[in-house]
Amino acid sequence: MAQTSHCKTIADNDPRYEELRSFIHSHENKDGIAMTALQEAQSLFGYLPLEVHKFISKETGVSIAELYGVTTFYSQFNTEPQGQHQIQICMGTACYVKGAQKVLDKVVETLGVEVGMTTPDQLFTLNAARCLGCCGLAPVMMIDDDVYANLDNVSEIPAILDRYRKDTK
Ligand code: FES
Repeated sequence: MAQTSHCKTIADNDPRYEELRSFIHSHENKDGIAMTALQEAQSLFGYLPLEVHKFISKETGVSIAELYGVTTFYSQFNTEPQGQHQIQICMGTACYVKGAQKVLDKVVETLGVEVGMTTPDQLFTLNAARCLGCCGLAPVMMIDDDVYANLDNVSEIPAILDRYRKDTK
């Protein structure tokens, strides 16, 4: 079994823990404390690693397993650090038929990460989507709020991704 306690990404003395503690204690008698505390923690830390689950469990009395149940059920929660830019590759039927797999393969090849992962420089997180609601433009990729349509020519993809690298510098 993989040991996770050696890979803490948030220091124990991170001041955001104090903020989270006061938040939890000001809401402790309310219903749904697990959900409320997880939402606050995600807005403070950006994601919810094991150490944050442990902290919330200690402060609320809700078990770690129950907290993970909430985190994994709702897609709004992330247990991994997220990149500065969110890439969504549409794998819905219309996009799939028009070559979404090639788009996905090119992005994977260019970034060197698989779906659900974030690049080591924390710039991009790669996701697959079911339908982005613009099937007439298939195949479609979104980066943050930008829509890239009719991506038949996947050789354009590295240049598209580069724009976000430049914007971030
Ligand atoms: S299937 Fe891709 S936008 Fe709908």
